[in-house]
Amino acid sequence: MTRQLVLGIETSCDETAAAVVSEDREILANVVFSQIDEHQPFGGVVPEIAARAHLSLLDGLIERAMREAEVDWSDLSAVAATGGPGLIGGVIVGVMTAKAVAIATGLPFVAVNHLEGHALTARLTDDVGFPYLLLLVSGGHCQLLEVEGVGRYRRLGTTIDDAVGEAFDKTAKLLGLGYPGGPAVERAALEGDPARFKLPRPMVGRPGCDFSFSGLKTAVRQTVSRIDQPSSVDVADLAASFQHAVAGSLRDRCRRGMQLFADAHGAGRPFVVAGGVAANAVLRADLSALSGEMGMAFVAPPPALCTDNGAMIAWAGLERFRLGLTDALDFAPTPRWPLDPNAQIAIGAGVKA
Ligand code: KG4
Ligand code: ZN
Repeated sequence: MTRQLVLGIETSCDETAAAVVSEDREILANVVFSQIDEHQPFGGVVPEIAARAHLSLLDGLIERAMREAEVDWSDLSAVAATGGPGLIGGVIVGVMTAKAVAIATGLPFVAVNHLEGHALTARLTDDVGFPYLLLLVSGGHCQLLEVEGVGRYRRLGTTIDDAVGEAFDKTAKLLGLGYPGGPAVERAALEGDPARFKLPRPMVGRPGCDFSFSGLKTAVRQTVSRIDQPSSVDVADLAASFQHAVAGSLRDRCRRGMQLFADAHGAGRPFVVAGGVAANAVLRADLSALSGEMGMAFVAPPPALCTDNGAMIAWAGLERFRLGLTDALDFAPTPRWPLDPNAQIAIGAGVKA
C-alpha cells in the first residue's frame, strides 16, 4: 500500500513555504523562503509587499518542494494551505494556489488553521500523543492551550495585550537591532548581563494563566531613552535583561497552566512549546527545566520547525485529511480564526486585577 503524502503551503506572514510530508512522519521536502530583504528597509513586515512576494515566489517553491520530495501530483493524497489567521493578502495567495492545484489535479483541499499547524508540529517531530499542554508563542499569539485532539483545544490563558514575539520585535527595533527582531535580540543577549536592568516581569504572581507584554515593552523604551547613545554593551545588557524578564513571566504563567493541566489530566503528560519564539534557546532551556520540576515531559520541535514553515501545514493537513476533515473549494480565507472558539477575546482587556 502506498503511504499518504500531503503538500502543505504557508503564506500567512513573511515566510513563503511549501513542503511534502508523509503519514509516517517523514518530511520529504521543506522549502522556506524568508522575505527578509523585502521587509528589512521598513523595519517590519509590510502586508502588501508580503502578499506580492508570496504571489511571485509560491509557484516556484511548490515546484522545488515537489522535485526535492521526488513526488508527482498523483502521489499526493491532498493539498493543504494556511486558511488563516494571518495577513489576509498572503493567506489569499496560498489558499487560491492550493485550490488551483486541487482543481487541476482532483486532489482534496484542506484549509489549515496556522495555529493548529504550530500546535500539531510536536506530533510530526516527536509523535506526541493527546492530550498535552501547549505554550504557543509567536509573532501574533501567546497562549496556553490544552490540546485534546485535532480541532479540540481549550484555552487556559492568552495575552491581554501584545504577543511575546511582538515584544521581541519591538525591543529589537528600540535597540537598533532591526528586523527580524527575535533572533537579533537572542544573539545580542548572548553577551549581555541579564541582571543589569531590573525590568518588570509581567503578571507574575497573578491568578490565572493570562499574559501581558506591553508594560515590559514600555519599560524597555523608557530604559533606552534614559541612556544617552547606548553602547554595544548597553544594548547587550538590555537585550539580556528583557529576555530574562520574558522568561520569568513565561515560567510563572506556565507553572500555573501545568498545575491546572495536571489537575485535569493527571501527572506526567507532555508540555509542548511551539511558534517562532519557541526557537529561542534561552527560553527553551528555562521551560525545559520548569517541565522537569513539574514532572512533565518537555517537547520542543527543532527551531526551524518552530518558526513558520510548510511542513507544519502539510502535517496538520494530513491529520485533518485522515479524519475526513477536508474543505470545499468555496472556503473563504480568514484573518481571524481562534483555536478555541469558546474562549473570550482578551486582547485589549488590559491588565486584570
Ligand atoms: O511563528 P512565527 O514564525 O510567525 C507567526 O506566526 O507569528 O513567529 C514569528 C515570531 C517573531 O515575532 C519573531 O521575532 C519570533 O517569532 N522569533 C523569536 C526567535 N525566532 C523568531 N523570538 C525570540 N527568539 C528567537 N530566536
Ligand atoms: Zn506562525
